[in-house]
Amino acid sequence: MMNEAIIMTQADVKKYVSIKDIIDIVEQTYVWYAQNEIIMPSKITLNMHELGLPNWINSMPSYVRPLDTLGIKWAGGFIGNKKLGLPYIMAEILLNDPLTGQLRALVDGNWITDIRTGAQTAVAAKYLAVNPEVLAIIGAGVQGISTALCMLETFELKEIRVADISADACEKFAREIGQKTSVPVKVCKTNEEAVKDADVIVTVTTADEALVKAEWVKPGAFVSSKGSYQELDENLIFKADKLYVDHLEQNLHRGEFLKYFLEGRLKKEDIVGEIGEVICGKVIGRKDKDERIVASLIGMGCLDIAIAAVVYRKMTSIVVPDYKKFKLA
Ligand SMILES: NC(=O)c1ccc[n+]([C@@H]2O[C@H](COP(=O)([O-])OP(=O)(O)OC[C@H]3O[C@@H](n4cnc5c(N)ncnc54)[C@H](O)[C@@H]3O)[C@@H](O)[C@H]2O)c1
Repeated sequence: MMNEAIIMTQADVKKYVSIKDIIDIVEQTYVWYAQNEIIMPSKITLNMHELGLPNWINSMPSYVRPLDTLGIKWAGGFIGNKKLGLPYIMAEILLNDPLTGQLRALVDGNWITDIRTGAQTAVAAKYLAVNPEVLAIIGAGVQGISTALCMLETFELKEIRVADISADACEKFAREIGQKTSVPVKVCKTNEEAVKDADVIVTVTTADEALVKAEWVKPGAFVSSKGSYQELDENLIFKADKLYVDHLEQNLHRGEFLKYFLEGRLKKEDIVGEIGEVICGKVIGRKDKDERIVASLIGMGCLDIAIAAVVYRKMTSIVVPDYKKFKLA
């Protein structure tokens, strides 16, 4: 018998999961992935550059067994959107029944994408940073704001610094974050000013250039690169004490480390492991307070599918498995 698929709007998503819920789901999903409870092939990128459009879109399928959910996210970057008052990243998610393939839901994926992208850094920093108090964000756009929100939710920050080539973006960032917290937000004139002495440094821009130099990064800092291109000075990568990724296979195809893999200057063995493996204790995490650690978190579709699955279950009153009970099981 055919079931009735539902539409889940952004308002529905916001009604049923909070930023804190999303951080918890991201952490749990990283663990499930490390425990082989998830099937997630690497994302496929459809690059429209080749036929003259400056845009790209990713197909991100995933089966999340503990939440009994099959799904796919379809998310891309559309560079002209800002002029139209639209976000750069546009995303939607389809959820299917894993037994029959029937469509369960069509989900607005924009807010889920933004918050889970912020949550990636917050969860990684829980395990790889040292008592984060000063947060530096290079890139004051949508993902920069969501990262600041997730870091505020997770840590007792004392200062948030932001730098961006767009003064308007910095002003919007300071206004939006200022409405949520009394933690001071400092708009910096240079990336160096933002990064110096920061405990956690995040790059989340649309740029493809070295935005953060090795000599600005203090011992003990945790650096989280999340933009779709390269954003770190190569010395920062090669002189880092430890390198981590969210998903090794995807990082061999794209992201911050791609160029060095292609050139043979980085090998799989140079990456200590994936964040989920660190959380589970399968690979070593930080061992020394002075280690400089760099993580390339390019985004995993299973995070989006898991969040959408929790919302679907709450909306349809299906008993939601207590995802926290699986933690570290
Ligand atoms: N890793 C993930 O999981 C993930 C998820 C979503 C988006 N992204 C990526 O994150 C990046 C940011 O996405 P967004 O939605 O915030 O876009 P956005 O357009 O809202 O913000 C991007 C910001 O980067 C700034 N910028 C561009 N060049 C810069 C430079 N040279 N120096 C400093 N700032 C610069 C822009 O002015 C803008 O404010 C994109 O590359 C996007 O593809 C990654």
